Amino acid sequence: MASNDEADYRIADLGLARAGRVEIRWAEHEMPGLMALRRRYAPSRPLAGKRISGFLALTVQTAVIIETLIDLGADVRWSGCNVLGTQDHAAAAVVVGRDGTPERPTGPAVFAWRGQNVDEYWWCAEQSLRWPDGGGPDSVIDDGGDFGMAVHTGLAAEADGFVPDPATARTGDEAAMLRMLAATLAERPKQWTTMVAGLRGVTEETTCGMVRLNRLHERKELLYPVININDAVTKSKYDNHFGCRHSLIDGINRATDVLIGGKVAVVVGYGNVGKGCAQAFRGQGARVVVVEIDPICALQAAMDGYQVTTLNEIVPVGDFFVTATGACRVIRPEHMARMKHLAIVGNIGHFDIEVDVAGLAAYPGIQRAQVKPQVDEWVFPDGHSVIVLGDGRVINFANATGHPSYVMSASFTNQVMGQLELYERTPGLEIGIHLLSRRMDEEVARLHLDSLGVRLDVLTEEQAEYLNVPVQGPFKSDTYRY
Ligand SMILES: NC(=O)c1ccc[n+]([C@@H]2O[C@H](COP(=O)([O-])OP(=O)(O)OC[C@H]3O[C@@H](n4cnc5c(N)ncnc54)[C@H](O)[C@@H]3O)[C@@H](O)[C@H]2O)c1
Repeated sequence: MASNDEADYRIADLGLARAGRVEIRWAEHEMPGLMALRRRYAPSRPLAGKRISGFLALTVQTAVIIETLIDLGADVRWSGCNVLGTQDHAAAAVVVGRDGTPERPTGPAVFAWRGQNVDEYWWCAEQSLRWPDGGGPDSVIDDGGDFGMAVHTGLAAEADGFVPDPATARTGDEAAMLRMLAATLAERPKQWTTMVAGLRGVTEETTCGMVRLNRLHERKELLYPVININDAVTKSKYDNHFGCRHSLIDGINRATDVLIGGKVAVVVGYGNVGKGCAQAFRGQGARVVVVEIDPICALQAAMDGYQVTTLNEIVPVGDFFVTATGACRVIRPEHMARMKHLAIVGNIGHFDIEVDVAGLAAYPGIQRAQVKPQVDEWVFPDGHSVIVLGDGRVINFANATGHPSYVMSASFTNQVMGQLELYERTPGLEIGIHLLSRRMDEEVARLHLDSLGVRLDVLTEEQAEYLNVPVQGPFKSDTYRY
């Protein structure tokens, strides 16, 4: 572990920085949106003096957004959003910085390494929120809503004078968060209250984070303005769909190298992520079966040519099972007990609760054998076994390297625009959930056309008038669903 209290970081190994820097350079080439924002805004540094904390897996692509924020003037601190999401060479390169050396790092404060335990994860998260002078962030980039959960629970604990007992938590992650909050309450009893008071807002990256924040907003408990990045068209219809289409197969191949063609691949959930997963399996020649609970998505899957049935029915037939629901305990031990010998089970949803691995571990007589890191064979008492990838954690991070740069360029261009939006508004956005404008969405897409050689046609004045849209856009109404 490379750590230096004075230097204010904790990562796996600074010596990996060179390898990380090479991949960051390649990623920059594949991230035209972020590079365009650097060219546009670096001269005026609109984020000068703004403190931004990042709760987003520190990959090579994340390194490019971090350095973009720095070029725009921000003072950045970063941790991750899951225990397996960090690419250690990327973290090293960020800490060393573009002008530094491992001996004299000049980059921002990063607290992240691959394979943390959940207490280390929350320790890192808290470090990324506290500057050496004791101050907190002006804004946060959250991915999955963990910052949101910590700050709302922390503030309530400071008001009540106690943190709920970790033994009452529903998950191990939540118990670890409560242990972290108990420590902050003892050491800095007003930390979260003070932080919220100074917070300009948060940009949230993903579907399940928005589920958590929408719930707080519905209950009128939300404490700050949120920009919903996930529901930008150029995020959820790109990253969730095309990113997973790429990285699901990457994860399965790295983990198992089992032929996919001809097999039965079951995709549970046919939302944005599930659509990408189903397409990926089909591209490999698998016979794809979709499981849904929403009639609209079920009908979409059917019309896209997939068999749609219940999980219960398909469990004994499938060779691959992937959850993409954002829900909890979707594939349970009783399902896995009825699967084929050596069926492969994984989750691509954000949290590790879609495949009930904790329940599997408690199954009477079950044996677990680690095949290699993030690949386990669970042997049932009847002798058949299932292969569980990444312990049920998000497969494209646990078993691969997350999404490719090009897709993340669109997501992160939205993120940077969201952060700029938080500061450009005077007196500031109202507490609530906000979307970036359709104009910005189109701009994000536009920034990615040239490097793919895409040539856009142009409306005539007559057509624009007939369609009642401006020649330069926006081209669709806010209700259009793409
Ligand atoms: N791994 C990644 O890189 C990545 C990228 C983006 C999003 N995500 C995560 O993936 C998850 C899904 O995201 P999304 O954008 O596709 O969400 P979505 O809401 O578009 O789709 C989820 C689908 O699952 C269905 N569903 C819910 N419970 C179900 C159940 N029990 N059985 C069958 N179907 C069920 C819903 O009806 C919905 O259609 C979220 O947790 C999100 O945060 C992961």
